[in-house]
Amino acid sequence: MSLKKICCIGAGYVGGPTMSVIAEKCPHIEVEVVDISEARIAQWNDEDLNNLPIYEPGLKEIVENTRNKNLFFSTDVARAIEESDIIFISVTTPTKQYGVGQGMAADLKYVEICARQIGKYAKSNKIVVEKSTLPVRTAEAIRDILENSDNDYSFEILSNPEFLAEGTAINDLLFPDRVLIGGNSDTESGIAAMNVLKDLYLNWVQDDHVVLSNVWSSELSKLVANAFLAQRVSSINAISELCEVTEANIKEVSKAIGMDSRIGPKFLNASVGFGGSCFQKDILNLVYISNSYGLKEVGDYWQQVITLNDHQKRRFAYKIVSKLYNTVSDKKITLLGWAFKKDTNDTRESASIYVADYLMNEQAKIVVYDPKVTAEQIYADLDYLNTRSEKENRALLEVVNDPIEACQDAHAIAIMTEWDEFKSYDWKSIYDNMFKPAFLFDGRALLDVESLKGIGFETYVIGKG
Ligand code: NAD
Ligand code: UDX
Repeated sequence: MSLKKICCIGAGYVGGPTMSVIAEKCPHIEVEVVDISEARIAQWNDEDLNNLPIYEPGLKEIVENTRNKNLFFSTDVARAIEESDIIFISVTTPTKQYGVGQGMAADLKYVEICARQIGKYAKSNKIVVEKSTLPVRTAEAIRDILENSDNDYSFEILSNPEFLAEGTAINDLLFPDRVLIGGNSDTESGIAAMNVLKDLYLNWVQDDHVVLSNVWSSELSKLVANAFLAQRVSSINAISELCEVTEANIKEVSKAIGMDSRIGPKFLNASVGFGGSCFQKDILNLVYISNSYGLKEVGDYWQQVITLNDHQKRRFAYKIVSKLYNTVSDKKITLLGWAFKKDTNDTRESASIYVADYLMNEQAKIVVYDPKVTAEQIYADLDYLNTRSEKENRALLEVVNDPIEACQDAHAIAIMTEWDEFKSYDWKSIYDNMFKPAFLFDGRALLDVESLKGIGFETYVIGKG
Protein backbone atom coordinates (compact mmCIF):
# COMPACT_ATOMS: atom_id res chain seq x y z
CA MET A 1 0.00 0.00 0.00
CA SER A 2 1.42 3.39 -0.88
CA LEU A 3 0.44 5.68 1.92
CA LYS A 4 -0.81 9.10 0.77
CA LYS A 5 -2.85 10.48 3.58
CA ILE A 6 -3.38 9.87 7.27
CA CYS A 7 -5.71 11.55 9.70
CA CYS A 8 -6.00 11.78 13.43
CA ILE A 9 -9.27 12.25 15.31
CA GLY A 10 -8.48 14.38 18.36
CA ALA A 11 -6.29 17.50 18.23
CA GLY A 12 -5.18 17.41 21.87
CA TYR A 13 -1.93 16.97 23.77
CA VAL A 14 -1.25 13.70 21.94
CA GLY A 15 -2.89 14.13 18.53
CA GLY A 16 -1.47 17.62 17.88
CA PRO A 17 2.23 17.04 18.67
CA THR A 18 2.28 13.45 17.32
CA MET A 19 0.83 14.40 13.94
CA SER A 20 3.06 17.48 13.73
CA VAL A 21 6.14 15.29 14.10
CA ILE A 22 4.85 12.76 11.56
CA ALA A 23 4.22 15.62 9.10
CA GLU A 24 7.71 16.99 9.69
CA LYS A 25 9.37 13.61 9.16
CA CYS A 26 7.17 12.46 6.27
CA PRO A 27 6.84 15.40 3.87
CA HIS A 28 5.48 13.02 1.20
CA ILE A 29 2.42 12.20 3.32
CA GLU A 30 -0.54 14.49 3.92
CA VAL A 31 -1.50 14.65 7.59
CA GLU A 32 -4.83 16.01 8.77
CA VAL A 33 -5.80 16.47 12.41
CA VAL A 34 -9.51 16.78 13.07
CA ASP A 35 -11.50 17.64 16.17
CA ILE A 36 -15.08 18.39 17.11
CA SER A 37 -13.95 21.44 19.04
CA GLU A 38 -14.08 24.41 16.66
CA ALA A 39 -12.30 26.57 19.21
CA ARG A 40 -9.36 24.15 19.46
CA ILE A 41 -9.02 23.85 15.67
CA ALA A 42 -9.17 27.65 15.34
CA GLN A 43 -6.25 27.88 17.78
CA TRP A 44 -4.24 25.31 15.81
CA ASN A 45 -4.88 27.41 12.69
CA ASP A 46 -4.18 30.75 14.36
CA GLU A 47 -1.70 32.83 12.38
CA ASP A 48 0.06 33.77 15.59
CA LEU A 49 1.88 30.59 16.61
CA ASN A 50 1.94 31.78 20.22
CA ASN A 51 -1.77 31.00 20.32
CA LEU A 52 -1.48 27.26 19.68
CA PRO A 53 -3.73 25.46 22.19
CA ILE A 54 -0.83 23.49 23.63
CA TYR A 55 2.42 24.76 25.04
CA GLU A 56 5.20 22.30 24.35
CA PRO A 57 8.85 23.23 23.75
CA GLY A 58 9.75 22.84 20.04
CA LEU A 59 6.14 22.41 18.88
CA LYS A 60 5.71 25.91 17.50
CA GLU A 61 8.72 25.56 15.18
CA ILE A 62 7.52 22.24 13.76
CA VAL A 63 4.00 23.56 13.16
CA GLU A 64 5.51 26.61 11.47
CA ASN A 65 7.45 24.32 9.07
CA THR A 66 4.60 22.04 8.18
CA ARG A 67 1.24 23.76 8.63
CA ASN A 68 -0.69 24.16 5.38
CA LYS A 69 2.09 22.32 3.53
CA ASN A 70 1.40 18.73 4.55
CA LEU A 71 -0.15 19.33 7.99
CA PHE A 72 -3.76 20.49 8.22
CA PHE A 73 -6.20 21.09 11.06
CA SER A 74 -9.95 20.99 10.53
CA THR A 75 -13.33 20.09 11.98
CA ASP A 76 -14.38 18.11 8.91
CA VAL A 77 -14.13 14.66 10.45
CA ALA A 78 -16.21 12.96 7.75
CA ARG A 79 -14.05 14.16 4.85
CA ALA A 80 -10.82 13.37 6.65
CA ILE A 81 -11.98 9.78 7.32
CA GLU A 82 -13.04 9.34 3.72
CA GLU A 83 -9.74 10.57 2.30
CA SER A 84 -7.30 8.82 4.67
CA ASP A 85 -5.65 5.40 4.45
CA ILE A 86 -4.84 5.33 8.17
CA ILE A 87 -7.07 6.85 10.86
CA PHE A 88 -5.58 7.41 14.30
CA ILE A 89 -8.00 7.70 17.20
CA SER A 90 -6.53 10.07 19.77
CA VAL A 91 -9.52 11.27 21.72
CA THR A 92 -9.87 11.55 25.48
CA THR A 93 -10.53 8.47 27.59
CA PRO A 94 -11.20 10.10 30.96
CA THR A 95 -12.27 8.37 34.15
CA LYS A 96 -15.97 7.60 33.92
CA GLN A 97 -18.03 10.00 36.05
CA TYR A 98 -21.35 8.12 36.05
CA GLY A 99 -22.96 4.69 36.17
CA VAL A 100 -21.12 1.39 36.37
CA GLY A 101 -17.41 1.88 37.03
CA GLN A 102 -17.92 5.51 38.11
CA GLY A 103 -14.66 7.04 39.32
CA MET A 104 -12.59 4.06 38.13
CA ALA A 105 -13.27 2.77 34.60
CA ALA A 106 -12.23 4.58 31.43
CA ASP A 107 -15.10 6.37 29.72
CA LEU A 108 -15.02 4.98 26.19
CA LYS A 109 -17.90 6.98 24.75
CA TYR A 110 -15.64 9.27 22.68
CA VAL A 111 -13.76 6.30 21.23
CA GLU A 112 -17.01 4.58 20.35
CA ILE A 113 -18.28 7.71 18.59
CA CYS A 114 -15.08 7.71 16.51
CA ALA A 115 -15.52 4.04 15.57
CA ARG A 116 -19.09 4.70 14.48
CA GLN A 117 -18.03 7.71 12.44
CA ILE A 118 -15.32 5.69 10.71
CA GLY A 119 -17.88 3.00 9.89
CA LYS A 120 -20.24 5.63 8.53
CA TYR A 121 -17.87 7.73 6.42
CA ALA A 122 -15.32 5.20 5.13
CA LYS A 123 -15.49 4.68 1.37
CA SER A 124 -12.56 2.25 1.14
CA ASN A 125 -10.63 -0.21 3.36
CA LYS A 126 -8.98 1.49 6.33
CA ILE A 127 -6.36 0.90 8.97
CA VAL A 128 -7.70 2.16 12.30
CA VAL A 129 -5.08 2.89 14.94
CA GLU A 130 -5.79 3.16 18.65
CA LYS A 131 -3.54 6.00 19.80
CA SER A 132 -5.60 6.78 22.89
CA THR A 133 -4.81 4.84 26.05
CA LEU A 134 -7.47 2.15 26.28
CA PRO A 135 -8.47 -0.75 28.53
CA VAL A 136 -7.18 -4.10 27.34
CA ARG A 137 -9.57 -5.67 24.76
CA THR A 138 -11.05 -2.38 23.51
CA ALA A 139 -10.01 -3.29 19.95
CA GLU A 140 -12.61 -6.06 20.13
CA ALA A 141 -15.37 -3.48 20.67
CA ILE A 142 -14.06 -1.28 17.86
CA ARG A 143 -13.93 -4.27 15.53
CA ASP A 144 -17.52 -5.20 16.44
CA ILE A 145 -18.78 -1.70 15.71
CA LEU A 146 -16.93 -1.49 12.39
CA GLU A 147 -18.01 -4.96 11.28
CA ASN A 148 -21.61 -4.09 12.04
CA SER A 149 -21.55 -0.77 10.24
CA ASP A 150 -23.44 -0.51 7.01
CA ASN A 151 -20.60 -0.87 4.48
CA ASP A 152 -18.60 -3.56 2.69
CA TYR A 153 -15.09 -2.37 3.49
CA SER A 154 -12.57 -4.13 5.66
CA PHE A 155 -10.89 -2.58 8.67
CA GLU A 156 -7.64 -3.56 10.35
CA ILE A 157 -7.41 -2.40 13.95
CA LEU A 158 -3.99 -1.72 15.42
CA SER A 159 -2.93 -0.57 18.85
CA ASN A 160 -0.14 2.01 18.84
CA PRO A 161 -0.11 3.62 22.29
CA GLU A 162 1.71 6.88 22.79
CA PHE A 163 4.43 7.09 25.44
CA LEU A 164 5.28 10.80 25.18
CA ALA A 165 5.42 12.83 28.37
CA GLU A 166 4.19 16.42 28.33
CA GLY A 167 6.87 19.08 28.46
CA THR A 168 9.23 16.80 26.51
CA ALA A 169 6.71 15.61 23.91
CA ILE A 170 8.62 16.71 20.82
CA ASN A 171 11.87 15.15 21.92
CA ASP A 172 10.04 11.97 23.00
CA LEU A 173 8.37 11.76 19.59
CA LEU A 174 11.56 12.44 17.63
CA PHE A 175 13.62 9.96 19.68
CA PRO A 176 11.22 7.43 21.16
CA ASP A 177 12.55 4.69 23.47
CA ARG A 178 10.25 2.39 21.55
CA VAL A 179 7.27 2.46 19.20
CA LEU A 180 4.80 -0.28 20.07
CA ILE A 181 2.51 -1.67 17.37
CA GLY A 182 -0.04 -4.31 18.31
CA GLY A 183 -1.94 -6.13 15.60
CA ASN A 184 -3.33 -9.42 14.41
CA SER A 185 -0.42 -11.46 13.10
CA ASP A 186 -2.68 -14.45 12.42
CA THR A 187 -3.93 -12.94 9.17
CA GLU A 188 -2.10 -11.65 6.11
CA SER A 189 -4.05 -8.40 6.20
CA GLY A 190 -3.19 -7.97 9.88
CA ILE A 191 0.51 -8.39 9.20
CA ALA A 192 0.30 -6.06 6.19
CA ALA A 193 -1.38 -3.35 8.29
CA MET A 194 1.29 -3.60 10.98
CA ASN A 195 3.95 -3.21 8.32
CA VAL A 196 2.29 -0.13 6.83
CA LEU A 197 2.35 1.56 10.22
CA LYS A 198 5.86 0.36 10.94
CA ASP A 199 7.06 1.79 7.60
CA LEU A 200 5.56 5.14 8.53
CA TYR A 201 7.67 5.24 11.71
CA LEU A 202 10.78 3.98 9.90
CA ASN A 203 10.92 7.40 8.21
CA TRP A 204 12.72 8.54 11.36
CA VAL A 205 12.74 5.79 14.00
CA GLN A 206 15.39 3.04 14.02
CA ASP A 207 14.14 -0.41 13.04
CA ASP A 208 15.12 -2.02 16.37
CA HIS A 209 13.07 0.57 18.27
CA VAL A 210 9.83 -0.60 16.66
CA VAL A 211 8.28 -3.45 18.66
CA LEU A 212 5.48 -5.60 17.26
CA SER A 213 3.08 -7.50 19.52
CA ASN A 214 -0.47 -8.76 19.68
CA VAL A 215 -3.17 -6.12 20.18
CA TRP A 216 -3.97 -7.05 23.77
CA SER A 217 -0.33 -6.92 24.91
CA SER A 218 0.00 -3.51 23.31
CA GLU A 219 -3.15 -2.11 24.95
CA LEU A 220 -2.18 -3.50 28.34
CA SER A 221 1.48 -2.41 28.09
CA LYS A 222 0.46 1.24 27.99
CA LEU A 223 -1.58 1.05 31.19
CA VAL A 224 1.19 -0.94 32.87
CA ALA A 225 3.94 1.48 31.78
CA ASN A 226 2.07 4.36 33.43
CA ALA A 227 1.32 2.30 36.53
CA PHE A 228 5.01 1.38 36.94
CA LEU A 229 6.12 4.99 36.52
CA ALA A 230 3.52 6.33 38.94
CA GLN A 231 4.42 3.59 41.40
CA ARG A 232 8.00 4.85 41.48
CA VAL A 233 6.83 8.35 42.33
CA SER A 234 4.53 7.07 45.07
CA SER A 235 7.35 4.86 46.40
CA ILE A 236 9.82 7.73 46.63
CA ASN A 237 7.11 10.01 48.06
CA ALA A 238 6.43 7.44 50.80
CA ILE A 239 10.13 7.52 51.63
CA SER A 240 10.10 11.34 51.59
CA GLU A 241 7.81 11.28 54.63
CA LEU A 242 10.08 8.80 56.39
CA CYS A 243 13.07 11.05 55.67
CA GLU A 244 11.31 13.98 57.29
CA VAL A 245 11.06 12.17 60.60
CA THR A 246 14.48 10.50 60.55
CA GLU A 247 16.72 13.28 59.14
CA ALA A 248 17.72 11.02 56.28
CA ASN A 249 18.06 13.19 53.16
CA ILE A 250 15.64 12.20 50.39
CA LYS A 251 17.94 13.45 47.62
CA GLU A 252 20.79 11.35 49.00
CA VAL A 253 18.50 8.33 49.29
CA SER A 254 17.25 8.84 45.69
CA LYS A 255 20.80 9.12 44.45
CA ALA A 256 22.01 6.08 46.37
CA ILE A 257 19.24 3.75 45.26
CA GLY A 258 19.15 5.19 41.72
CA MET A 259 22.78 4.25 41.20
CA ASP A 260 21.78 0.61 41.32
CA SER A 261 21.46 0.03 37.59
CA ARG A 262 18.57 -2.36 38.20
CA ILE A 263 16.62 0.57 39.63
CA GLY A 264 18.13 3.48 37.66
CA PRO A 265 18.22 7.21 38.39
CA LYS A 266 15.10 8.44 36.59
CA PHE A 267 11.69 9.14 38.13
CA LEU A 268 12.95 9.28 41.69
CA ASN A 269 12.26 12.94 42.46
CA ALA A 270 10.14 13.31 45.57
CA SER A 271 7.31 15.77 44.98
CA VAL A 272 4.05 17.12 46.27
CA GLY A 273 2.43 14.27 44.33
CA PHE A 274 2.10 13.25 40.73
CA GLY A 275 -0.50 14.89 38.52
CA GLY A 276 -1.30 14.88 34.83
CA SER A 277 -4.04 13.44 32.72
CA CYS A 278 -2.65 9.92 32.62
CA PHE A 279 -1.29 8.40 35.81
CA GLN A 280 -4.34 8.55 38.06
CA LYS A 281 -6.83 7.74 35.33
CA ASP A 282 -4.83 4.82 33.95
CA ILE A 283 -4.12 3.28 37.36
CA LEU A 284 -7.77 3.61 38.37
CA ASN A 285 -8.60 1.86 35.13
CA LEU A 286 -6.07 -0.90 35.86
CA VAL A 287 -7.61 -1.37 39.32
CA TYR A 288 -11.07 -1.52 37.75
CA ILE A 289 -10.00 -4.07 35.13
CA SER A 290 -8.29 -6.23 37.79
CA ASN A 291 -11.37 -6.12 40.01
CA SER A 292 -13.62 -6.91 37.01
CA TYR A 293 -11.68 -10.13 36.52
CA GLY A 294 -12.06 -10.88 40.26
CA LEU A 295 -8.40 -10.14 41.00
CA LYS A 296 -9.04 -8.19 44.19
CA GLU A 297 -5.51 -8.29 45.59
CA VAL A 298 -4.10 -7.06 42.28
CA GLY A 299 -6.60 -4.19 42.28
CA ASP A 300 -5.84 -3.33 45.92
CA TYR A 301 -2.12 -3.33 45.21
CA TRP A 302 -2.35 -0.71 42.45
CA GLN A 303 -4.98 1.31 44.33
CA GLN A 304 -2.36 1.91 47.00
CA VAL A 305 -0.27 3.95 44.50
CA ILE A 306 -3.18 6.41 44.25
CA THR A 307 -3.84 6.35 48.01
CA LEU A 308 -0.24 7.34 48.69
CA ASN A 309 -0.45 10.10 46.09
CA ASP A 310 -3.60 11.56 47.65
CA HIS A 311 -1.91 11.38 51.04
CA GLN A 312 1.14 13.28 49.73
CA LYS A 313 -0.97 16.19 48.44
CA ARG A 314 -3.01 16.41 51.66
CA ARG A 315 0.10 16.10 53.81
CA PHE A 316 1.71 19.06 52.02
CA ALA A 317 -1.37 21.27 52.53
CA TYR A 318 -1.64 20.31 56.21
CA LYS A 319 2.06 20.99 56.69
CA ILE A 320 1.44 24.57 55.52
CA VAL A 321 -1.42 24.94 57.99
CA SER A 322 0.51 23.48 60.92
CA LYS A 323 3.64 25.57 60.27
CA LEU A 324 1.52 28.74 60.08
CA TYR A 325 0.47 28.21 63.73
CA ASN A 326 -2.50 26.02 62.81
CA THR A 327 -4.46 28.83 61.23
CA VAL A 328 -4.32 30.18 57.69
CA SER A 329 -7.65 31.97 57.82
CA ASP A 330 -7.33 35.28 55.91
CA LYS A 331 -3.59 34.73 55.40
CA LYS A 332 -2.23 35.29 51.91
CA ILE A 333 -0.56 32.14 50.56
CA THR A 334 1.06 32.32 47.16
CA LEU A 335 1.21 29.21 44.99
CA LEU A 336 3.98 29.39 42.40
CA GLY A 337 2.98 27.04 39.60
CA TRP A 338 -0.36 25.51 38.69
CA ALA A 339 0.62 23.17 35.80
CA PHE A 340 1.17 19.53 36.82
CA LYS A 341 4.83 19.77 35.77
CA LYS A 342 7.09 22.31 34.09
CA ASP A 343 7.08 23.15 30.38
CA THR A 344 3.40 22.45 29.85
CA ASN A 345 0.19 24.44 30.17
CA ASP A 346 -1.70 21.27 31.11
CA THR A 347 -3.25 21.33 34.59
CA ARG A 348 -5.21 18.10 34.65
CA GLU A 349 -5.00 16.45 38.08
CA SER A 350 -2.29 18.90 39.12
CA ALA A 351 -1.39 18.73 42.82
CA SER A 352 -1.88 22.53 42.95
CA ILE A 353 -5.63 22.16 42.48
CA TYR A 354 -5.98 19.94 45.54
CA VAL A 355 -3.55 21.87 47.73
CA ALA A 356 -5.38 25.12 46.88
CA ASP A 357 -8.69 23.45 47.65
CA TYR A 358 -7.55 22.18 51.06
CA LEU A 359 -6.20 25.62 51.95
CA MET A 360 -9.35 27.36 50.76
CA ASN A 361 -11.31 25.09 53.10
CA GLU A 362 -9.21 26.69 55.83
CA GLN A 363 -10.24 30.13 54.50
CA ALA A 364 -6.76 31.04 53.28
CA LYS A 365 -6.50 33.75 50.63
CA ILE A 366 -4.75 32.03 47.75
CA VAL A 367 -2.81 33.86 45.05
CA VAL A 368 -1.57 31.89 42.05
CA TYR A 369 1.10 32.63 39.50
CA ASP A 370 1.96 30.24 36.65
CA PRO A 371 3.96 31.28 33.57
CA LYS A 372 1.76 29.37 31.06
CA VAL A 373 -1.62 28.68 32.65
CA THR A 374 -4.51 31.13 32.19
CA ALA A 375 -6.75 32.42 35.00
CA GLU A 376 -9.71 30.97 33.13
CA GLN A 377 -8.19 27.48 33.35
CA ILE A 378 -7.34 27.82 37.04
CA TYR A 379 -10.92 28.77 37.93
CA ALA A 380 -12.28 26.02 35.67
CA ASP A 381 -10.14 23.45 37.56
CA LEU A 382 -11.47 24.63 40.91
CA ASP A 383 -15.06 24.85 39.74
CA TYR A 384 -14.79 21.28 38.43
CA LEU A 385 -13.99 20.04 41.96
CA ASN A 386 -17.38 21.34 43.03
CA THR A 387 -16.24 22.00 46.61
CA ARG A 388 -17.77 25.47 46.70
CA SER A 389 -19.59 27.92 44.43
CA GLU A 390 -17.92 29.65 41.48
CA LYS A 391 -18.38 32.92 43.31
CA GLU A 392 -16.62 31.64 46.41
CA ASN A 393 -13.74 30.25 44.35
CA ARG A 394 -13.19 33.68 42.82
CA ALA A 395 -13.46 35.39 46.20
CA LEU A 396 -10.89 33.10 47.83
CA LEU A 397 -8.39 32.74 44.97
CA GLU A 398 -6.76 35.39 42.84
CA VAL A 399 -4.65 34.81 39.74
CA VAL A 400 -1.80 37.24 39.17
CA ASN A 401 0.38 37.59 36.06
CA ASP A 402 3.44 38.92 37.81
CA PRO A 403 5.30 36.65 40.27
CA ILE A 404 6.70 39.50 42.35
CA GLU A 405 3.27 41.03 42.78
CA ALA A 406 1.92 37.55 43.61
CA CYS A 407 4.39 37.22 46.51
CA GLN A 408 3.97 40.75 47.85
CA ASP A 409 2.65 40.74 51.47
CA ALA A 410 2.27 36.95 51.51
CA HIS A 411 2.58 34.96 54.72
CA ALA A 412 3.81 31.95 52.80
CA ILE A 413 4.90 30.88 49.34
CA ALA A 414 4.56 27.32 48.07
CA ILE A 415 6.49 26.01 45.06
CA MET A 416 4.06 23.69 43.29
CA THR A 417 5.60 23.24 39.83
CA GLU A 418 9.30 22.96 39.04
CA TRP A 419 9.37 25.86 36.51
CA ASP A 420 13.03 26.85 35.87
CA GLU A 421 12.28 30.56 36.20
CA PHE A 422 11.54 30.18 39.93
CA LYS A 423 15.24 29.44 40.49
CA SER A 424 16.32 32.79 39.09
CA TYR A 425 14.03 35.03 41.18
CA ASP A 426 15.51 37.63 43.50
CA TRP A 427 14.46 35.80 46.66
CA LYS A 428 15.96 38.44 48.95
CA SER A 429 13.66 41.16 47.68
CA ILE A 430 10.68 38.77 47.67
CA TYR A 431 11.48 38.02 51.32
CA ASP A 432 11.74 41.71 52.18
CA ASN A 433 8.20 42.30 50.90
CA MET A 434 6.53 39.46 52.81
CA PHE A 435 4.91 39.21 56.24
CA LYS A 436 7.30 37.92 58.89
CA PRO A 437 8.03 35.25 59.69
CA ALA A 438 8.09 34.49 55.95
CA PHE A 439 7.50 30.84 55.09
CA LEU A 440 8.59 29.00 51.96
CA PHE A 441 7.23 25.52 51.23
CA ASP A 442 9.10 23.80 48.42
CA GLY A 443 6.93 20.98 47.08
CA ARG A 444 9.45 20.14 44.38
CA ALA A 445 12.74 20.40 46.29
CA LEU A 446 13.62 22.91 43.55
CA LEU A 447 15.34 25.79 45.32
CA ASP A 448 18.59 26.04 47.26
CA VAL A 449 17.11 25.83 50.70
CA GLU A 450 20.28 26.77 52.59
CA SER A 451 20.53 30.15 50.87
CA LEU A 452 16.82 30.77 51.47
CA LYS A 453 17.36 30.08 55.17
CA GLY A 454 20.29 32.50 55.05
CA ILE A 455 17.95 35.21 53.77
CA GLY A 456 15.63 34.57 56.71
CA PHE A 457 12.91 32.29 55.30
CA GLU A 458 11.34 29.60 57.43
CA THR A 459 11.50 26.67 55.05
CA TYR A 460 9.87 23.31 54.54
CA VAL A 461 11.10 21.13 51.69
CA ILE A 462 9.32 17.96 50.67
CA GLY A 463 11.33 15.06 52.10
CA LYS A 464 13.38 17.33 54.30
CA GLY A 465 11.00 18.58 56.94
P1 NAD B 1 -7.04 15.94 24.98
O1 NAD B 1 -8.23 16.13 25.82
O2 NAD B 1 -5.94 16.95 25.02
O3 NAD B 1 -7.49 15.82 23.44
C1 NAD B 1 -8.54 15.01 23.00
C2 NAD B 1 -9.28 15.75 21.89
O4 NAD B 1 -10.24 14.87 21.32
C3 NAD B 1 -10.05 16.99 22.36
O5 NAD B 1 -9.59 18.13 21.65
C4 NAD B 1 -11.52 16.67 22.01
O6 NAD B 1 -12.25 17.80 21.57
C5 NAD B 1 -11.35 15.66 20.90
N1 NAD B 1 -12.51 14.77 20.67
C6 NAD B 1 -13.21 14.07 21.59
N2 NAD B 1 -14.16 13.34 20.98
C7 NAD B 1 -14.07 13.59 19.65
C8 NAD B 1 -14.78 13.12 18.50
N3 NAD B 1 -15.76 12.23 18.60
N4 NAD B 1 -14.40 13.59 17.29
C9 NAD B 1 -13.38 14.47 17.18
N5 NAD B 1 -12.67 14.94 18.23
C10 NAD B 1 -13.01 14.50 19.45
O7 NAD B 1 -6.47 14.49 25.34
P2 NAD B 1 -4.96 13.97 25.21
O8 NAD B 1 -4.18 14.39 26.40
O9 NAD B 1 -4.45 14.29 23.84
O10 NAD B 1 -5.18 12.41 25.34
C11 NAD B 1 -5.75 11.63 24.30
C12 NAD B 1 -5.50 10.16 24.59
O11 NAD B 1 -4.09 9.90 24.61
C13 NAD B 1 -6.03 9.70 25.95
O12 NAD B 1 -6.49 8.37 25.82
C14 NAD B 1 -4.80 9.73 26.83
O13 NAD B 1 -4.88 8.82 27.89
C15 NAD B 1 -3.71 9.32 25.86
N6 NAD B 1 -2.36 9.79 26.21
C16 NAD B 1 -2.17 11.05 26.70
C17 NAD B 1 -0.89 11.49 26.99
C18 NAD B 1 -0.65 12.85 27.53
O14 NAD B 1 0.47 13.09 27.99
N7 NAD B 1 -1.60 13.76 27.52
C19 NAD B 1 0.20 10.66 26.73
C20 NAD B 1 -0.03 9.40 26.20
C21 NAD B 1 -1.32 8.97 25.94
C1 UDX C 1 3.21 10.25 31.70
C2 UDX C 1 4.23 9.20 31.21
O1 UDX C 1 5.55 9.58 31.66
C3 UDX C 1 4.20 9.11 29.71
O2 UDX C 1 5.09 8.10 29.25
C4 UDX C 1 2.77 8.79 29.27
O3 UDX C 1 2.70 8.71 27.87
C5 UDX C 1 1.82 9.83 29.79
O4 UDX C 1 1.93 9.92 31.22
P1 UDX C 1 3.13 12.90 31.81
O5 UDX C 1 1.96 12.68 32.69
O6 UDX C 1 3.01 13.83 30.67
O7 UDX C 1 3.62 11.51 31.19
O8 UDX C 1 4.37 13.44 32.71
P2 UDX C 1 5.48 12.73 33.64
O9 UDX C 1 6.78 13.33 33.32
O10 UDX C 1 5.40 11.27 33.60
O11 UDX C 1 5.05 13.25 35.09
C6 UDX C 1 3.85 12.83 35.72
C7 UDX C 1 3.77 13.41 37.12
O12 UDX C 1 4.73 12.78 37.97
C8 UDX C 1 4.09 14.91 37.17
O13 UDX C 1 3.23 15.56 38.07
C9 UDX C 1 5.52 14.94 37.65
O14 UDX C 1 5.85 16.13 38.29
C10 UDX C 1 5.52 13.76 38.62
N1 UDX C 1 6.87 13.21 38.85
C11 UDX C 1 7.57 12.67 37.83
C12 UDX C 1 7.40 13.26 40.13
O15 UDX C 1 6.77 13.75 41.05
N2 UDX C 1 8.66 12.75 40.31
C13 UDX C 1 9.39 12.21 39.31
O16 UDX C 1 10.53 11.77 39.57
C14 UDX C 1 8.83 12.17 38.02
